[in-house]
Amino acid sequence: MYKYLQEDKNNINEIINQFYNYSKNILSDFDKRNIGLRPKDFDIEFINNEGIGFLNTLEKFNKKYEKHLSSSMGSRYFGFVTGGATPASLIGDWLSSLYDNNVTNLGESCSGDITLETIHQLKNLFELDNSFDGIFVSGATMSNFVGLATARQWFGNYYDIDVAVDGIQRLNEPLNIYSASPHSSIYKSLSMLGLGKNALKSIKTNENSESIDIDDLEENLKKQNNIPCIVVANAGTVNTVSFDNLKEISKLKEKYNFWLHVDAAFGGFARCSSKYKHLIQNLEDADSITIDAHKWLNVPYDSAMHFTKHLKLQFEVFKNAAAYLKPNFSNNNYVHLTPENSQRLRALPAWFSLNAYGKKGYSEIIQRNCELASDIGDKIKNSDKFVLLSDVILNGILFTLYVKELTSELINKFVNDIRDDGRIFITPSVYNNIPCLRLSISNWQTEQSDMDIAWDALNDVFDKIN
Ligand SMILES: Cc1ncc(COP(=O)(O)O)c(C=O)c1O
Repeated sequence: MYKYLQEDKNNINEIINQFYNYSKNILSDFDKRNIGLRPKDFDIEFINNEGIGFLNTLEKFNKKYEKHLSSSMGSRYFGFVTGGATPASLIGDWLSSLYDNNVTNLGESCSGDITLETIHQLKNLFELDNSFDGIFVSGATMSNFVGLATARQWFGNYYDIDVAVDGIQRLNEPLNIYSASPHSSIYKSLSMLGLGKNALKSIKTNENSESIDIDDLEENLKKQNNIPCIVVANAGTVNTVSFDNLKEISKLKEKYNFWLHVDAAFGGFARCSSKYKHLIQNLEDADSITIDAHKWLNVPYDSAMHFTKHLKLQFEVFKNAAAYLKPNFSNNNYVHLTPENSQRLRALPAWFSLNAYGKKGYSEIIQRNCELASDIGDKIKNSDKFVLLSDVILNGILFTLYVKELTSELINKFVNDIRDDGRIFITPSVYNNIPCLRLSISNWQTEQSDMDIAWDALNDVFDKIN
């Protein structure tokens, strides 16, 4: 065995001890570090011929990179929609690497059973019944891709065409996709699926909202003349956190022939809270659903769920036959149900977290995050420095600066100055042509004291640039 491999194998206890102390320091220091960090140019080095062994590598990592990694898992990172990692999920993630099992149901491990049970528990959490099956994928983008790929198969089946075998070139009718404010990953998925981004037909939104105008949707569905199509409903848009009215869309499903895919990447978590679940009624009427785990479930990247009522169709799309792999259909034979073949035991971090904190734990996180969002939304509304652009519905706040000349450059400067200030991190956006800011709260640790710091940071940076 090569000398450093042998050395590290012999010294595994020392390695684990060093790593243990290192991790403890990082975990206790997250809030003392700058939350976001200015990108820096690093020297890109060639591979070292001899290698240097693990402990030297850890030291090298510390010197070169450690100080430049952001605290995106901490309580004051409010950019995009970013969750942290609960203690239980972090350990689950480490165990997933420790066991390094491949979830392909090869008849030699319970990894598929753990995944199945985790999906079952998530269905309980989101109040989805047993008409749904589920899988883990790398993120909501991939989950949206799986939903649209399966819908494409359903569309082909209607015309007796197996798209998985014969391809979209056999389709004689165009497959239209209707949505009002789809996430960019829907377009990306359409590109990957060969359907093309222009297959998405935009539906009007309701006034002062990104939610779908049901009448306009119905007008378009009528024009389909019974040709099947897809409706992508959004449960929590990134800017205004708008929810499409799934109850009304479900009623349309009785009259028109469409596949309903719901992108509930983070909005799905409203189902965990008695106070917010009214936002997402009738989710159970969807054909397929996207919910991210690395957002509000607070498990480490990368992890998301895809729930479907059409597992057989999903199997048709993703089955992967080889001399050594029989394409047998079952609800935990993941190699035939997911875009990936080999895949890590992604369910384990979620399993640990769900078991450790239960329904009540998640309900508390969601409710606390949303109440904090509502409070800071009120402060922004009453401030003479900021303008609230949309009512706070869940955990996201969309706002801008109250200045004479509002430009994208000023917003970018504000975001960069906030980053350099170090107390919080937020991200820019544009809404109705207005350059603006987004602050999204989805971390299990965020508390009132964090929001007090956030409010001071926002005001201080505003005063500095104005
Ligand atoms: C509504 C929605 N859909 C899809 C995505 C894509 O998620 P991911 O980055 O996990 O692929 C996001 C990410 O912010 C989202 O908010």
